[in-house]
Amino acid sequence: MRTKLIAGNWKMHGSLAGNLALLQSVAAGAATLPTLSFTVLIPFPYLPQAQALLANSACSWGAQDVSEAASGAYTGEVSAAMLREFGCQYVIVGHSERRQRHGESDARVAAKALAAIEGGLTPIVCVGETLAEREAGQTLAVVGRQLDAVIQGLGVQRLPHAVLAYEPIWAIGTGRSASAQQAQEVHAALRQRVSQSDLVVAAGIQILYGGSVKPSNALELMGLPDIDGALVGGASLNADDFLDIGRAAARA
Ligand code: 13P
Repeated sequence: MRTKLIAGNWKMHGSLAGNLALLQSVAAGAATLPTLSFTVLIPFPYLPQAQALLANSACSWGAQDVSEAASGAYTGEVSAAMLREFGCQYVIVGHSERRQRHGESDARVAAKALAAIEGGLTPIVCVGETLAEREAGQTLAVVGRQLDAVIQGLGVQRLPHAVLAYEPIWAIGTGRSASAQQAQEVHAALRQRVSQSDLVVAAGIQILYGGSVKPSNALELMGLPDIDGALVGGASLNADDFLDIGRAAARA
């Protein structure tokens, strides 16, 4: 049985004052849902605040990007070792907003995932198709290509140290999530693709769904056989909504 992970991607939101109540409420709520794992993926400057507030709580914390390099002349980048110094457990890599806005290639995403694992972090590796790709019937080919790069870059033996997240780009921030059938089809295909390399790894790997997850659709999505949690954007900025998604996942 795979533990479900409820991950909040704050994106570029937050303030020291506003984070306080949010983090405290999430930590308190997470403690009431011991069958789940909770994490918040927050902007870099707030990592010390999360470390102070969430240490020894039921909610871990992490970042939204990591450099593939260990150190050096990489202005603006942050290494896995730096994130570990602030107690990060997880880091998102390959979010579509970074693939699209920063031109991150499949190979670069795989390199970041490798750097994260070697630095002691668990990468949450995002894959997902655009609306045009879905409408052209290319969904499974696109996410398959993105996943293959990660399997190749990490080697299947490191894959258990990663989490996968399926985030259809057309469902992100649009209020329109994938249907249960659409999500399950892709999740099952991803797991099937991993199973071509290793059956045991495929059975154990967590595959999160992301894209307009909210309390009203969480029960159905989290009840699907190949969905092992949620990567939540907008709804993770509201403690009640985020925790309600967790409650739905615990019931599903
Ligand atoms: P929304 O939940 O706001 O659609 O964002 C999803 C996402 O991109 C999480 O990484």
